[in-house]
Amino acid sequence: MKWTISSVKPPYGVAALRAIHAIQEAGWTQAQLQSSLMGASARVRVAVDSDSDLIEGANAMAPDILGFVLARRIADSLEIDLVAVTPSKRRLGIGRSLLSRLIEAESRSGLGEARLELASSNDPARALYQGLGFVVVGKRKRYYPDGDDALLLSRRNVSEIP
Ligand SMILES: CC(C)(COP(=O)(O)OP(=O)(O)OC[C@H]1O[C@@H](n2cnc3c(N)ncnc32)[C@H](O)[C@@H]1OP(=O)(O)O)[C@@H](O)C(=O)NCCC(=O)NCCS
Repeated sequence: MKWTISSVKPPYGVAALRAIHAIQEAGWTQAQLQSSLMGASARVRVAVDSDSDLIEGANAMAPDILGFVLARRIADSLEIDLVAVTPSKRRLGIGRSLLSRLIEAESRSGLGEARLELASSNDPARALYQGLGFVVVGKRKRYYPDGDDALLLSRRNVSEIP
């Protein structure tokens, strides 16, 4: 399977927003997603099936979005808010390429740290981030409604991705 990592900028087409909403598993509403995507600090990448075209802008066609990452750039930090890959396309390397391409791009403008919060029971995501050089730097006990702890992961000096 081949995919292309694309940078998406507002305005987002309804179809692209729906696709991202359907893939995410974090319970965000479409309105929450839309407002995060629109902020000046938003950094978004989508993985698109190489056989389909992603047309940006308000008239975007329904793109074959396989996964996405949504982050915010705050000074020299990158806060990674969401990353998800459609279930049937997992374990192909899409999540890793989404994150590494985003971090590489942000590193060109003086990125000092990339960080995120993650449920401690989310083993796939933990393995993904650890493979990219992230380390656990903190924990918030019973942070999530189901009682799970949140782990704080960070990668400093992010100019080189393993
Ligand atoms: C986490 C997630 C984004 C990973 O995406 P993915 O495209 O399947 O990940 P990749 O194929 O790029 O995997 C990269 C590495 O991560 C680790 N990994 C990914 N999925 C894993 C799993 N199910 N079990 C163990 N390790 C896993 C492996 O080290 C893998 O490398 P390898 O395949 O060479 O062994 C995907 O499982 C997902 O969408 N989960 C639901 C949403 C979510 O939990 N997001 C994170 C919190 S916002």
